[in-house]
Amino acid sequence: MTQNINQEKLSSGRFTESTDAFVEEFTASIQFDHRMYRQDIQGSIAHARMLYKVGILDAKEEDAIIKGLQHIQQEIENGEMHWSIKQEDIHMNIESRLTQMIGVTGKKLHTGRSRNDQVATDIRLYLRDEIDFILTELKRLQQGIVSVAEREADTIMPGFTHLQTAQPVTFGHHMMAWYEMLVRDVERLQDCRKRVNTLPLGSAALAGTTYPIDREYTAKLLGFDRISQNSLDGVSDRDFAIEFTAWAATLLMHMTRFSEELILWSSAQFQFIDLPDRFCTGSSIMPQKKNPDVPELVRGKSGRVYGHLISLLTLMKSQPLAYNKDNQEDKEPLFDTVDTVRGCLRAFADMVPAIQVKREVTYQAAKRGFSTATDLADYLVRQGMAFRDAHEVVGLAVAHGVKNGLDLSEMSLETLQSFSDKISEDVFEVLTLEGSVAARNHLGGTAPEQVKNQIALAKKVIA
Ligand code: ARG
Repeated sequence: MTQNINQEKLSSGRFTESTDAFVEEFTASIQFDHRMYRQDIQGSIAHARMLYKVGILDAKEEDAIIKGLQHIQQEIENGEMHWSIKQEDIHMNIESRLTQMIGVTGKKLHTGRSRNDQVATDIRLYLRDEIDFILTELKRLQQGIVSVAEREADTIMPGFTHLQTAQPVTFGHHMMAWYEMLVRDVERLQDCRKRVNTLPLGSAALAGTTYPIDREYTAKLLGFDRISQNSLDGVSDRDFAIEFTAWAATLLMHMTRFSEELILWSSAQFQFIDLPDRFCTGSSIMPQKKNPDVPELVRGKSGRVYGHLISLLTLMKSQPLAYNKDNQEDKEPLFDTVDTVRGCLRAFADMVPAIQVKREVTYQAAKRGFSTATDLADYLVRQGMAFRDAHEVVGLAVAHGVKNGLDLSEMSLETLQSFSDKISEDVFEVLTLEGSVAARNHLGGTAPEQVKNQIALAKKVIA
């Protein structure tokens, strides 16, 4: 009886009693790692082809294994595969189904490899696929941002520091700041992909294998750019998953900043933008409400990704070489990070181009708060005044404006001249919002001309 139960254990020979039912469930990963079935099969097919190439499998065996694996993929995709906790994980479930289907040949597939290098390979293949998809979504979001920037290149809004009105900027310029953040996120992800795309297969359990394997060939079949150079490291490190999650945490941090601004701007207090109705919800009690749920959720979802980063760092921390079961805990945080990133990017890429800017509101808002005060100081400097003195003079003019409810541009020439005799009629050119933004006409500045140059460059990059 014991003997029969143990037959179900992959490594049954050594055991004299069957696994405790709870422990079986506790230690299994099939509940979540079945997600990597395509990569597991892809890796196994490449491994079988390599085993044939080096003469470990004959042509008939190779063919039976590959056809069997392809058939299993079909079964899985048709929802016909029976996943078994007893088979612990995706690797053993597929292998045991293969053996059930093609008999003893199926048992030869695992020659020269271990689940340790198999799982490391699967995760890398999985993450590589996801990175490629995420890169296309990032580009879609960048395109959306640039389309708004183009539409609003001449739109004036207040620029803020400390969330206090600082200087007028163009809406397009503000959008392009978001675009720039994503440029760096794309670069970082492309760089991360290089380290993800390294083949650990061939490391076997930890020390390599006694069979004459051809790792270059397997790498070529699977599209890996590099081969891990140390088998102990190859099976054990999950730094590539940590790196991806750190990348995701940085992306989400950027997205919380976009979110925060969209939430503020769509509030009754700002009213800078309208978010499309299809991205908002109402309140069950307050009929007037239109809540910016999508940016709020994205802002909130950053929390889980930051948490996953800490989980992964902690599971890797202090692990002795080589593989330890701790590493099985890498999958759920990684999968959830991928899902979260995909969801947030999709929602934003769909929503951002549909943002409606209320140009008159942003214009009037820029007029309040003395946003051209720096321009007046710069004007006085051009008339020969030292900047610190100019700062003082403008401060007095602003105080007068606060007291009398007047913007600098609304004061009479006589009033302005009462603060400095260096002021003459042409001062009004610098006090207008249009004049203020147009004057910042250098690389990186907010002038519409500069912003349009940046947009043209961006459109080439994301074409
Ligand atoms: N399910 C395991 C994991 O995700 C696969 C590797 C198991 N290796 C082992 N020696 N128990 O890490």
